[in-house]
This record gives sequence, structure tokens and C-alpha cells, in this order.
Amino acid sequence: MINTHYQTLPDNYLFAAIARKVREFEAGHPGQPVIRMGIGDVTRPLAPAVVEAMREAAAEMGCAETFRGYDDAQGYPFLKEAVAAHYARLGAAAAPDEILISDGAKSDAGNLLDIFSPDCVALIPDPVYPVYVDTNRMDGRAVRFMDATPDNGFLPMPDASAQADIIYLCSPNNPTGAAYNRDQLAAWVAYARERGAVILFDAAYEAFAGEAGIPRSIYEIEGARECAIEVGSLSKMAGFTGVRCGWTLVPPELVRDGVSLRQMWLRRQNTKFNGVSYITQRGAAAALSPEGLAQCRENIDYYRENARLIAGTMDALGIAYTGGRNSPYIWLECPGGDSWAFFDRLLERAQVVGTPGAGFGQNGEGFFRLSSFGTHENTRKAMRRFRELGAGG
Ligand code: MLT
Repeated sequence: MINTHYQTLPDNYLFAAIARKVREFEAGHPGQPVIRMGIGDVTRPLAPAVVEAMREAAAEMGCAETFRGYDDAQGYPFLKEAVAAHYARLGAAAAPDEILISDGAKSDAGNLLDIFSPDCVALIPDPVYPVYVDTNRMDGRAVRFMDATPDNGFLPMPDASAQADIIYLCSPNNPTGAAYNRDQLAAWVAYARERGAVILFDAAYEAFAGEAGIPRSIYEIEGARECAIEVGSLSKMAGFTGVRCGWTLVPPELVRDGVSLRQMWLRRQNTKFNGVSYITQRGAAAALSPEGLAQCRENIDYYRENARLIAGTMDALGIAYTGGRNSPYIWLECPGGDSWAFFDRLLERAQVVGTPGAGFGQNGEGFFRLSSFGTHENTRKAMRRFRELGAGG
């Protein structure tokens, strides 16, 4: 009767488990406010251009002449055009009809698996955003892991002997903050093309890629249109974690077993998804307008300053870390080694919440992730408490 593959999953989704622990701590320690640096949830308000566009859209919905009901599941042309213009600015040409608007990267990353056979093999880095692993496990699909460790700078490269039909790449990476350069991504594209595999490229953190030579889209790499699907998101880029809007780009060149994956994804979405609200899509298009992008950039710079502050604290304490330069996450070597034990100590002694590396996979043990999406005030306070704890935690 039930899908027994669910029994192969951990009892709780990582961030739900953390939220529960924090709720329990707060209930038992009233008057000890907790600083949240765990889940990568933004704190800056929406850009004024976004708010204005959503206000206008809400007013349109309140008028019989401009009211809108169902639209097709692909998204309104005005938003698909805005996303295509975003790709053009990155130097990665994309046509509007290759872009399907959704309620975010997490849903799309999971839902995309509907178009792949449960018999194919998923190649997934370890550590990794747990959604990729859990959603494959739900289908009973075989998962092979590739090690992301300090030895490879947390950037695994293709291994000719590994079996892979679906390859997950997230760059800049969640959770490690490492980012592939152009040559490294080109090697992945060549590998996927050689074996007919499909790369699922999660670009949710592209707006944080600050260093030269770090591609912000897989389509900046020649040949990627024949082997890669890209998932994009406004969550971190424009503060849409609570608004919900993203997209998936499936180029028409992407054909497997004689079938267009774009057509399959469209068929899937038309059947199981009714699209994103008009108000949200207007807000999203405003976020991608020149004015909106400039305002969103200010928020990203704000978080970057937090990342610098966290990195500076780790430097002062002599704690090794990656991330922060191209990413909102700092991935540090966990004081004491046991990442859940450090999570508990940090919560109890400093009232700071981070994410234990073990939650991202076996290779995550020994590491800990801090998010820079808080306020300056809280980040400063948290780092003061971190210093008081000392390098030993
Ligand atoms: C994270 O903290 O890893 C992300 O914010 C979770 C997500 O985007 O779903």
C-alpha cells in the first residue's frame, strides 16, 4: 500500500529536525533569545521595486477588467522574458520558452525526478543539500556519492569509472560554499555528454559568485545545452524565501531516448502544477529589472559583509573554513569534530544555531555550516559569543 522507499529516509528532514531542537530549547529557556544561523533564510526585506510591483499586481487582481485566474503552468511571458534577459546578461543565451516558472528550486529539484526512470543512477556529491538525496531515495533510485573533501577543495571532479545517469552539481555550493571555475564545469559538461548523462545544475546561489572566473550558469559552458537542466531561484538572490518563485530551464537540445526533456517537463508541470500567482510573478519580474537588481544587490552586499565578519572570526580563532567569498555560507572545521555535539554546545552555551555538517552527508561530519543571512547586529553578537567559546568550542 505505502511507498516503502520512505522507510529508507532519515526520520526528519534536516532543517525540520533543527527547527524542532530550537523550539524545544526556546521553550525551556525563556529569556535566552536564539540567533539563527542555521537554515539559509534571508532577513532583509524585499526590494522596494518588488513591493511596488506586487502592490500594483494586487490592485489589478481587485479590478474586474484586470483580474486574472488560471494561467498556464509555464509562467507569464513577461517573467520568462525577464529571466531570459538575466541569462543574456550572464552571457548564457536562453529563449523565454525554454524557461518554466515555478515556486522555487527545492520543489523543482525534487519534481524533476518524475521525468527520469527510477532505474537510472544518480551521482550526488557528499556533503550535499539533503533534498537531492532524499528525493531520489523516495523513488527508490540508486544513489552513488562522490566525495567532496578538503583534498579536492570540496569540488569533486568526474571519475571515468563512476556510473551516472543524473549528475547533481550545485555551484556556488550548498553547503560548502566552494564554487567550480569554468574549466572544472567544462570537464563536467564533457563527461556528461560523453556518457549521455544529464546534469541537474542548481544555480540557487549564483548571485553570490563574486570572484572572476566563476560561472553563474552552466550554460556559460559550451555544450551544456545538450546535457544540462538548470534550476534557478529568487530565494537568496531577491529574498523570496517566503514569497516563493524560481524557474527551471530545459533547452530543446536536451533529448534522451529520442524524447525532448523539455516536452516531458512541460507535460509534468501542466499535469501536476497550476503555476505561480500573478502577484508573485510580477514581483519576480521587478526583481530582475535593472532597478530591482540594483536593490537586490545591496541586500547581497549586506549579507556579504556578514560573511566577512564570520570569516574574520574564524581567522582570529584559527578555525579552517571554506565559503564566504562566493557564497552566503561559511563551512568550518567543527571544533571537537562531532557536528551534532557542537550544534548542542553552541545552542546551549551561546544560543547560536548553525547546521551540523553530518546533516549534509557522511563527509559533512567534522564540519559545521554558518549562514550569513542574518542581520548585522545578530551576526556580530553571534561572533562575539563564538570568540568567547574559543577555538575549542
Ligand atoms: C539551506 O539552508 O540549505 C537552504 O536554505 C534550504 C533551502 O533552500 O531549502
